[in-house]
Amino acid sequence: MSISVVILAAGQGTRMKSDTPKVLHKVSGKEMLFHTIDAAREMSDDVTVVLYHQAEKIQAKIEENYDGLNFVYQDAVNYPGTGGAMMGVSCRHDKVLILNGDMPLITRESLDKLTSAGADINMSVIWLRDSSGYGRVIIEDMSVVGIVEEKDCTPEQKLIKSVNAGIYLVRRDLLERYIPLLENNNAQKEYYLTDIVSMAVEDGKEVHPISVPEEEFKGVNSKLDLAHAEVIMQRRIKEQLMRDGVIMHLPDTIYIDCRATFEGECEIESGVAIHGYAQIINSHIKSNSVVEDSVIHDSDIGPMARIRPQSKLTNTHIGNFVEVKKSTLKGVKAGHLSYLGDSTIGEGSNIGAGVITCNYDGKAKHQTFIGKNVFVGSDTQLVAPVRIPDDVMIAAGSTVTKDAEQGDLVLSRTPQKSIKGFFYRFFGKSE
Ligand code: UD1
Ligand code: MG
Repeated sequence: MSISVVILAAGQGTRMKSDTPKVLHKVSGKEMLFHTIDAAREMSDDVTVVLYHQAEKIQAKIEENYDGLNFVYQDAVNYPGTGGAMMGVSCRHDKVLILNGDMPLITRESLDKLTSAGADINMSVIWLRDSSGYGRVIIEDMSVVGIVEEKDCTPEQKLIKSVNAGIYLVRRDLLERYIPLLENNNAQKEYYLTDIVSMAVEDGKEVHPISVPEEEFKGVNSKLDLAHAEVIMQRRIKEQLMRDGVIMHLPDTIYIDCRATFEGECEIESGVAIHGYAQIINSHIKSNSVVEDSVIHDSDIGPMARIRPQSKLTNTHIGNFVEVKKSTLKGVKAGHLSYLGDSTIGEGSNIGAGVITCNYDGKAKHQTFIGKNVFVGSDTQLVAPVRIPDDVMIAAGSTVTKDAEQGDLVLSRTPQKSIKGFFYRFFGKSE
């Protein structure tokens, strides 16, 4: 079936108490609105986003990430409300799915349910013990006969437990007919999209209530809602990964970005955070490590290590308190307390405890190149740019400022000297 999708995202989101537009707040690493856009694009080649508050900012952010979407700016001053939002929209396909930009948890399964039922209008309905805050859906003989917004409800209508979840599938010709007829004679003086339901019913059209899970259709309106949505999204991501074969220890303590991918047998210990487009392949990430936008292949990381963006680690061992940034390590061991940034390190090289690539000179970043089978002694500083070829030994405690040659021993230390009996001269001798 060909459908068009309209995403309503013009609302202000005052309760979010943030300068960031509400729909650009992230859930599991991805903007709420982008969760909805991704779902929409899977279903349709005709997706329209309706904007008003901070419209330019939101549109620019969308266009950084997506091509080919349509944008409509609502005239929210003269035509406020969800009906007003639909006024400038025109769609190419005969059926139109209307979504909200602040519902990142809706699943494909629920959208399929809504788009596959055959009626003139399908609307999402939740049955709630406490229906306050929502529009009440009046259902007779399995059909919807009207929607009443909370502020317009009579005391009896307030008791209705079936509420409008806010997502609809509507025939395009009905939208084209009814949207221009909307009026704002209601408590909020808004143009309600929901009024098209009673218009359709009066015309003898069929409006089906489609029951959907409350968890998915809770809009995010505050930072508290955002945190709740995060918990649900994280649970889903991790359950799916474990079903796909990832081992997780105490999964409630693990954070995984929705864009991260896993292949082969991976093991993730407690307290790990994986951010961005990380790719983890046949690897073991130990407790309390952080991996950001990096590729980890046949490697073990941590505990308590940090792998920062654009790192590529293959067949590598990274131990505790090691920070790696924008570096390519292949067949490397870096077991303890190091900083490896803007570096390339080859097969069989060993990085001793406390090694630091001094990649920043106060103005610019510089590269460190370390070849194969290099032994970098503990507490070495490599002052970049610097190049160490294959088969080099660097003595512990060296400050390396010059390139070496293959086969060298490099050392730069003050020669050790001993002063005989100094201890006793200073402290005296005990009896
Ligand atoms: C709406 C429904 C209500 C339903 C509820 C479910 C109407 C009249 N009421 O309530 O029956 O129970 O959703 O959450 O539709 N938006 C615009 N322009 C506007 C106003 C809103 O684009 O002028 C967008 C918002 O960004 C949001 C969506 O529409 O994505 C819903 O807006 P919201 O204010 O949350 O819905 P309500 O009017 O409270
Ligand atoms: Mg409203």
